[in-house]
Amino acid sequence: MPQYFGQLPVTHQPWTSMGMVQAVNKSASTISFACGDALLTISILAANLIRVRLAPTGEFMPRRAWAVALDDAEWTTVPFEVRETEATVEIETAQICVRVQRQKCQITCFDKANRPFAEDADMGMSWRMGAVAGWKKIATDEHFYGFGERTGFLDKLNEVKTNWTVDALDYNALTDEMYQAIPFFMALRPDMGYGIFLNSTFWSQFDVGVEQPGVWKMETRGRELDYYIIYGPEPAQILRTYTQLTGRMPLPPKWALGYHQCRWSYDSETVVRELAQEFRQRRIPCDVIHLDIDYMDGYRVFTWSPKRFSNPEKLISDLALDGFKTVTIIDPGVKYEPEANYHVFDQGIDHDYFVRKADGGLFHGYVWPDKAVFPDFLRADVRTWWGDLHKSLTDIGVAGIWNDMNEPAIDDRPFGDDGKKIWFPLDAPQGENATHGEVHNLYGLMMAKSAYTGLERHRPTKRSFVLTRSGYAGVQRWSAVWMGDNHSLWEHLEMSLPMLCNMGLSGVAFVGCDIGGFAGNATPELFARWMQIGMLYPLMRGHSALSTARHEPWVFGDRVENICREYINLRYQLLPYIYNLFWQAATTGAPILRPLLYHFPQDPQTYTLYDQVLLGASLMAAPIYRPGVEHRSVYLPAGIWYDWWTGEEYAGSSHILTHAPLERMPLYVRSGAIIPMQPVTQYIDIDEQPLDHIRLRVWPGNGKYTFFEDDGQTFEYNKQNFSLRNINVFTENNQTIVEISSREGAWTPASREIIVELVGFGEQRFPDDGQEHRLKLGNYAPR
Ligand code: GLC
Repeated sequence: MPQYFGQLPVTHQPWTSMGMVQAVNKSASTISFACGDALLTISILAANLIRVRLAPTGEFMPRRAWAVALDDAEWTTVPFEVRETEATVEIETAQICVRVQRQKCQITCFDKANRPFAEDADMGMSWRMGAVAGWKKIATDEHFYGFGERTGFLDKLNEVKTNWTVDALDYNALTDEMYQAIPFFMALRPDMGYGIFLNSTFWSQFDVGVEQPGVWKMETRGRELDYYIIYGPEPAQILRTYTQLTGRMPLPPKWALGYHQCRWSYDSETVVRELAQEFRQRRIPCDVIHLDIDYMDGYRVFTWSPKRFSNPEKLISDLALDGFKTVTIIDPGVKYEPEANYHVFDQGIDHDYFVRKADGGLFHGYVWPDKAVFPDFLRADVRTWWGDLHKSLTDIGVAGIWNDMNEPAIDDRPFGDDGKKIWFPLDAPQGENATHGEVHNLYGLMMAKSAYTGLERHRPTKRSFVLTRSGYAGVQRWSAVWMGDNHSLWEHLEMSLPMLCNMGLSGVAFVGCDIGGFAGNATPELFARWMQIGMLYPLMRGHSALSTARHEPWVFGDRVENICREYINLRYQLLPYIYNLFWQAATTGAPILRPLLYHFPQDPQTYTLYDQVLLGASLMAAPIYRPGVEHRSVYLPAGIWYDWWTGEEYAGSSHILTHAPLERMPLYVRSGAIIPMQPVTQYIDIDEQPLDHIRLRVWPGNGKYTFFEDDGQTFEYNKQNFSLRNINVFTENNQTIVEISSREGAWTPASREIIVELVGFGEQRFPDDGQEHRLKLGNYAPR
């Protein structure tokens, strides 16, 4: 690692730790502890949520509402009790007790069974020049998840995770800094789980037992330590609270759940039209076509190449007639082009919207359009201006916006000239009274927010789709996220599962990796396996880089084309189920793609299991991610499981060896599962092709399901304009009973049939009249 050579620190500034508590003060929901110059506050925001703040100087910074959606005062007050003893101050809520040791002002939390968690280690909370940190104990059997966008496997014990957004080009399992910086994680052990959100946008880092075994550390280069402790104990509860704090994603348009096709670049109208035709002729469903940077005129954002895209409006409307939605890329770098009548540059200069250096000079770097300047998205007026620029795109029918290079990715020299990646000088003023050092991690988040809110203004009744590469905690409120420039490597296919699961465990549910790999050339086998796994990605997008081989589903020959068609078809059949998961994410913060530990947190076998995933609660995949492999071991957690393809029944907890030829991705369903499915369509066309039936596939056992549906495209769901059915499956006298409640909510689907299929036993059908139904289906003797 040559970059570290000669960089060992020669001096170590000593840390100053908290001293004795000298005074305790209580206000409505905050207890303050004065310790010399330092001030510590603990605020009780919910029975399972506390906020801890330490200001070494005794003075807190003004509140910054960047990531946190709910201000302290906006939480409903909950009762708590404060007990003071000679040695401690104890704060007790309905769910937890927080004990502060007066001697060193250290914190430990306890659940109601007196199990400690988030317990301060020896160093407690300390500071030194330019940094503040907290140290806490790692309990036996504790494992660590989340941390935003991370390479490697699932459990982050014994790793260091830095929160600083970078263009993580050529990332691999050892890469630390990534495109996203989300300083949140959860620590789980049997019977216990808690989450930590480090509320700092400055550079920060988690060290999970590396510097000191048995201790995790959080450090930020900010002026105070500000973190939230969220008690679970289950991951679902931790995420529910964390997303209450940082916000949840709005429901995306339903079409965004379909298959997306992208390439850098489909670089002319002709190429795009041919691509669209190819999908329809080959009967491979596809909803979205992404236009990468070459649709622009010389990489000038908010322009179109007059040569290659001479009539974008016609192109987009023709595509729309065929069911395709168009998404265009928008990068933050604005071509530096004085006196050239480039409206974006001119307006930005006229209103002083671009980031300046501390000395007042305009900052510039190099990106696609060569010399470029960068909007200061931390400013509300800049976000409005930029958001309004999108009107030129929405007016001609662009359905979604893809934000890229927004870490921001900047070179110090023209591209292709061996430039170094740089960022704005850390002292560059941004937003209101902030410097780049404080808000670097927010650049992508604020850009995505600007796009999202702009689209909402221009198309107030229609949901839009925004995709971003960079972001910070809370990015789920504004945008979906993809994992940047992966490679056409088996290792990257394998890694995509834990990466996306950890994103989901960080509150960001709408995520995906480029199917087939962005950089490099997929082999037919890799591509087939990737499409199978890609079917599980919440965002299902194929993409590939300039000068790589084409990666569309048909370029690898008939066998792979058939596999791609089959798995994309399956994705479309599962859309009602997947859309329901999006609704869960939007209302509870639950991930869509989940590691097994999410549903089996008491089962230590799941703690490091990274290569099996759950799509929602019922469907488990054990994909193949190695060349030439046709068998793999599958772990089935406790309960009865069914093979999706053969119906074979298995009892967990157990390991089985499964056979998976290239056509087959091993898939399992939990007993009692209820999975709504629909016929394959070539695209999601809610208005024009109402579906004539919906199929509820049910597997024997006990299960409950809430089936959400709505128009899939407007914000009416916020006004109760949706349909909810509660479905219950259970066994009675060896028969499977399916109870469907009457429809709640104001939305009624178009006339259709409901088919209830007890998988392996038969089916019944009836018109969907919105009434209650009770069905007896087949004989079934439970084990
Ligand atoms: C970046 C993006 C990639 C895109 C390319 C050109 O590398 O991550 O997805 O295709 O830029 O815009």
